[in-house]
Amino acid sequence: MTERVKEILGSEAPREDVTVEGWVRTARASKGIAFFEVNDGSCLASLQVVAEPGLANYAEVEGLHVGSAVRVRGRLAQSPAKGQKWELKAADVEIVGPSAPEYPLQKKRHSFEYLRTISHLRVRSRTFGAVFRVRHALQMAIHNFFDSRGFVQVHAPIITGSDCEGAGQMFRVTTLDLGAKPDFSKDFFGRETSLTVSGQLEAEIFALAFKDVYTFGPTFRAENSNTSRHAAEFWMIEPEMAFCDLRGDMAIAEAFVRSIVGEVLARCSQDVDFFDQQIEKGLRAKLEGLVASPFEVMTYTQAVAALEKSGRSFEYKPAWGMDLQSEHERFLTEELLKRPVFVIDYPADIKAFYMRMNDDGKTVAAMDLLVPHVGEIIGGSQREERLGVLEERMRAFKLDPASYWWYLDLRRYGGTPHAGFGMGFERMLMYVTGMTNIRDVIPFARTPGSAEF
Ligand code: 4AD
Ligand code: MG
Repeated sequence: MTERVKEILGSEAPREDVTVEGWVRTARASKGIAFFEVNDGSCLASLQVVAEPGLANYAEVEGLHVGSAVRVRGRLAQSPAKGQKWELKAADVEIVGPSAPEYPLQKKRHSFEYLRTISHLRVRSRTFGAVFRVRHALQMAIHNFFDSRGFVQVHAPIITGSDCEGAGQMFRVTTLDLGAKPDFSKDFFGRETSLTVSGQLEAEIFALAFKDVYTFGPTFRAENSNTSRHAAEFWMIEPEMAFCDLRGDMAIAEAFVRSIVGEVLARCSQDVDFFDQQIEKGLRAKLEGLVASPFEVMTYTQAVAALEKSGRSFEYKPAWGMDLQSEHERFLTEELLKRPVFVIDYPADIKAFYMRMNDDGKTVAAMDLLVPHVGEIIGGSQREERLGVLEERMRAFKLDPASYWWYLDLRRYGGTPHAGFGMGFERMLMYVTGMTNIRDVIPFARTPGSAEF
């Protein structure tokens, strides 16, 4: 039976007859002995294999290229080498899939830019091994959080006829001839459709039946912002809670973020240490600090006042009514507060139509969670449950209430105050790994001008 490298390295005592399968990370031969390291993605560390000339295929083993796929059987023995407890003394080395001298991932450190051009191979490197193990662990932590609190997961549709964010940044889905003047009534669905920007509206439907629900799915945005934090295809987690207001929404968001970060710390300790040493100094302390201390809360109005008072010369001069730019978000979280902050009660004009109007008639019950380095990681709100107010807001946003009839029905039949939020999965992953470009935390990034692989 083959075992994973992680299990083998965790052995308590020497053992006979251990078999491992994986890919060669490094290979060298000296004084008639071949040494190579095997990694199988199960953990950061690789297993050192020692092969001696007695092997029938020693000549081939001695010439092994980095990147080869191998199956090795042997005896697990204490290693005399520094920094590793175990090594595998090979009794049999099967070269399952040889590599070649020009294998692009050689030992030296490559830039992340270069590694993006070889997304099919970068997953075999230390950094990307760690990124995608943490990505998996974070995903499991998210499901665990909601499952343990009785939330029901909703699979929101990927093809949709409605624009949740009303921002006009949707990718169209059609079977119509690209050259023709489109008559969408003749299209596959008999109407105009796009890839979803958010599963929120569908989550609201389910929340008004199951009370607490969440989505976890891909979302698509055609915003042409070529930044390190925007992808055209990203994954979003959207909880939605009935009988819940903005305060309750923030309480869940905070418990959620703390819980999933805590689980990653517990489950991916080695990988977190790697990121702490190689990617963001102080990452572990940052994450432990987040788990241990409460988040700040400030209103948008207070945030703008703090920015105005800062004496900084921002590229965009802060003024009440404008959206916070990333330089503003960075000042608030990285310099002023030095920790995560909820900014709440944004001006109605810069937020989506569905957010609940506050009593001042100018702001809505919105919340964004901002964190150091990454900026906005969560956007959420209490939803407008009052039918008349919602219809008015839709008209103000030039949306036709008739085409949202089902959304309005939720306010006609058993509507309740309800609230929810969306967390960008890759943004969260950037925060927990310290990786600074969204292209490096998603397996195959879709960004303007880039969709290879
Ligand atoms: O703030 P957003 O646009 O909110 C919504 O979509 C709401 N429907 C959520 C809700 O209340 N259910 O997006 C939510 C989060 C952002 O805070 C950000 O983390 C992430 O999604 N996000 C992106 N991540 C990567 N690339 C992009 N282009 C993103 N746009 C938003
Ligand atoms: Mg937002």
